[in-house]
Parts: sequence; C-alpha cells; structure tokens
Amino acid sequence: MSNSTVKPASGKLGVLVVGLGAVTSTFMTGVLMARKGLSKPVGAMTQYDKIRVGRGADKKYLKYSEIVPMADLNDIVFGAWDVYPANAYQSAIYAEVLQEKDINPVKDELEQIVPMKAAFDKDYAKRLDGSNVMENKSRWEMTEQIREDIRNFKKEKGVERVVVLWAASTEVYVPIDMKYHGTLADLEAAMKADDKEHVAPSMCYAYAALSEGAPFIMGAPNTTVDIPAMWELSEKTHMPISGKDFKTGQTLVKSGFAPIIGTRCLGLNGWFSTNILGNRDGLVLDEPANFRTKEVSKLSTLESILVAEEQPDLYGANCGGAEKGGHQGYYHKVRINYYPPRNDSKEGWDNIDIFGWMGYPMQIKINFLCRDSILAAPLCLDLVLLSDLAARAGRHGIQRFLSFFLKSPMHDYTKNEVPVNHLFKQYTMLKNAIREMGGYEADEEID
Ligand SMILES: NC(=O)c1ccc[n+]([C@@H]2O[C@H](COP(=O)([O-])OP(=O)(O)OC[C@H]3O[C@@H](n4cnc5c(N)ncnc54)[C@H](O)[C@@H]3O)[C@@H](O)[C@H]2O)c1
Repeated sequence: MSNSTVKPASGKLGVLVVGLGAVTSTFMTGVLMARKGLSKPVGAMTQYDKIRVGRGADKKYLKYSEIVPMADLNDIVFGAWDVYPANAYQSAIYAEVLQEKDINPVKDELEQIVPMKAAFDKDYAKRLDGSNVMENKSRWEMTEQIREDIRNFKKEKGVERVVVLWAASTEVYVPIDMKYHGTLADLEAAMKADDKEHVAPSMCYAYAALSEGAPFIMGAPNTTVDIPAMWELSEKTHMPISGKDFKTGQTLVKSGFAPIIGTRCLGLNGWFSTNILGNRDGLVLDEPANFRTKEVSKLSTLESILVAEEQPDLYGANCGGAEKGGHQGYYHKVRINYYPPRNDSKEGWDNIDIFGWMGYPMQIKINFLCRDSILAAPLCLDLVLLSDLAARAGRHGIQRFLSFFLKSPMHDYTKNEVPVNHLFKQYTMLKNAIREMGGYEADEEID
C-alpha cells in the first residue's frame, strides 16, 4: 500500500441498514453471493474502478483497495431495522427483484438478518402499516433505543466499526426550520419535547448513529441530514455524514447527459422527465407529501449544471422557454407515476427540447428501462465502504466527495455553497479524495 495514513480496516464492519426492503435485500443478497464467488459486484466502483495516481512516466492505474485500506466484502456483517418483521430472505423474495435461483444459495445467511423494531411514525409514511415498530416512544426515547440497538449489535456480532445507511421509505417533506434544526441544542430540545412535526424518525437514526461513532448515509431524499444541527453533531462526534438520495437511474443519466448540452453550448428550452414504477417505493411516493420530498431532490440537478445566470442566451432569460411557457429560462418538470404491473422495473422517459445554431429546435428522447434496486445496490456498497474509509481517515462532517453517488448532494447552504451536480466534476472530487487519503497528490482541477 502507498503512503496512506488511514487507519487499517481491521476487524469486522457492521453495516446497519434502516429499511429492509427491495434495495436493501438486493444489496445484501449481492454481497453475500459475491462473497461465495457466485455473483459479481457489477456497478460497484469500490470493486472495479481504477484511478490514476502519479503523473507522466510514474503514472499508474490502481483499484481503490490498492490506494487506501478498504474493508473487504468478507468482513461485512449485516443488520437492519424495518417496520415489517420479514427477514432479509423473505424480503428479497417479496421484492421480486432477484430470481429465487440467485437468492437461495445464501438463504441461510439472509434468514439470520431479522429486522430490529423500527423507529416509525405513520404520519411520515401513511401507506405503510407494519407491526415491527417501537411502541409509545417519544422522539428522544426512540433515539436512545436505536443507540442501544447499535451497541448491542456491536457486542453480539463482535464488529469493530459500524456504518448506518438509510435505505428506508421516503418520508413526508420536512421543511428546514432554523428554530428547530439550526443548532444541535435546538434539535435536542425538540427531540426531548417530542416535537413530532419537526423531528422525523430518520433524524433519530442519524442522531443515534453519529452519537455512537458510526458514519451516517441518507439514501432517500429526506431532509434528515440537511440541517445545521446534524452537521454540528457530525463535527462534534468526528463522524462522516453524507446524503441525499441515491443517484441511480434518471438523475444519473441527467447529470451525465446535461454536460453534453452545456459543453457543446447548445440551448435548452425544456426537459421533461417522467417515470413509471410499481414497487413499494412507488407506492409511498404516490402520496403527494412524500412525492414532494423526491421532487425537490430530483429538480435540483439540472439547475446547477446548466446555469441560467452564466449563459442567459442558452439557459436563462433569453432562451426560448420564456416565450413558450411564460417563465424565465428552461422548463424542467419531473413526474413519478405509481404503476404496479412494473414492480421494480422502472421505466423512465426524458424528453429534452434543445436548440442550436440560429435558435433552430431539436429533440432528444431517452428511454431508460432500468431496474431500480439493481442500480441502487452497488451504490449502497460504495457509500458504506467509502464512509467507513472516510471515518478511518479522520474525515468528519459533510462528505462532498461522495456527491457522485447522490442525487441531491449535501452542501452548506447557510454559506451559499452551491452543490456540484455535474457527474464528471463529482468523479474528479471522488478521485482526488481517494488520492489524498492514499498519500498521493490530489492533482485534478475542478473548474
Ligand atoms: N432504488 C432506487 O433506484 C432508489 C434511488 C434513490 C433513492 N431510493 C430510495 O431508497 C429507499 C428504499 O427504496 P426501496 O425500493 O427499497 O423501498 P421499499 O419500500 O422496498 O423498502 C423500504 C423499507 O423501509 C421500511 N421503512 C420505512 N420507514 C421506516 C423506518 N422509519 N424505520 C425502519 N424501516 C422503515 C419499509 O417498511 C420498507 O420495508 C426509498 O426511500 C427510495 O426512495 C431508491
């Protein structure tokens, strides 16, 4: 290994996932199958990607584990919380993402992953109705219980370190309110007062994880960690924090395709994105208050790549959208439609109205027939392993280098920081961080 000063990944790594649904069961099954050599972790950058280190005659391309000490797949021990009592095997069968032949070889291990009782509030996901929930607990008591769960898990499984990943349903939109979310003291006071309106259950998990010395990752679009109180806690406990919303299908395409338009200096009139999906995630998102959370997350991508103020002729006040839609700049719309027959096989359509030389209009259509959980599972693995790496490297607070994996990357909006959504700039941030942690020079510019 290079000159990395990162602490070694010794011992077992506990991966505690909030939500044992389609994404989580697909993630766990894939890791267990890969461990047995029965499947390949395709799509996981931590397992495949090679980064250049050194320059000129000294340059070489290395896998992440050759640059920094990464936890091995064999060292992972899984645990979970869920509203429903189904174990990971039952959940994988129920989700119908994977065929039984790809689940059965690890049936025994999956059956042992039995979810702990969820910190849940039906007002945050009205369409869910499970029995495996903590009863009559205030927000503060929920947090205490989760902390105890983490401590017990560590002891029982003999794990050295724990990472907590939220891959549970999208909660209703909780607007950021500085009165309750501004400082750690405000948030703690709201939790102790059992303020159900301003403290989402997801905040209890994040608070508990960080307090127990575990990095926390928000895989859904919840505003959970987008509050200064959580940043303060992550600084205080020296833990990495990241979010939000796995960048899997349509937004991955958007953040990779928009740079083509921007780099070529083509204009944009409008971008209409629509999806159909029929899994439980789609069911929860069918509720307008839950969809609002997703919509806010999905909409933010384009605006920071094709910036109206920087190119008014192409994306701002002077582009065609103003005449056609009576608004400034291009028209951006995102729709998610719950359509049960498709289950996890989401279909996304993007219609992109662009214009070129002398303003002549053209159209681009992208039709992505994807599989939601197949795309999300490798992101879970990458986020977990890289968050564990970051913790061992002594990185704390918002982990901007993980923006690559996230639809709506965390940023300090109180200081007017603009998030980086451009896929290739995000990749540069990721590579630079790994180089730096490996004791190499972070030698690529983000301009
Ligand atoms: N698959 C993708 O491409 C993708 C992309 C981005 C984000 N996400 C997000 O990932 C999350 C998981 O997606 P999924 O398809 O696995 O959904 P899912 O509905 O299959 O699983 C979510 C599970 O979370 C559980 N849950 C809900 N609230 C909980 C709580 N408070 N505590 C513990 N468990 C709780 C539910 O009971 C359910 O089993 C969703 O929020 C989704 O929006 C998925």
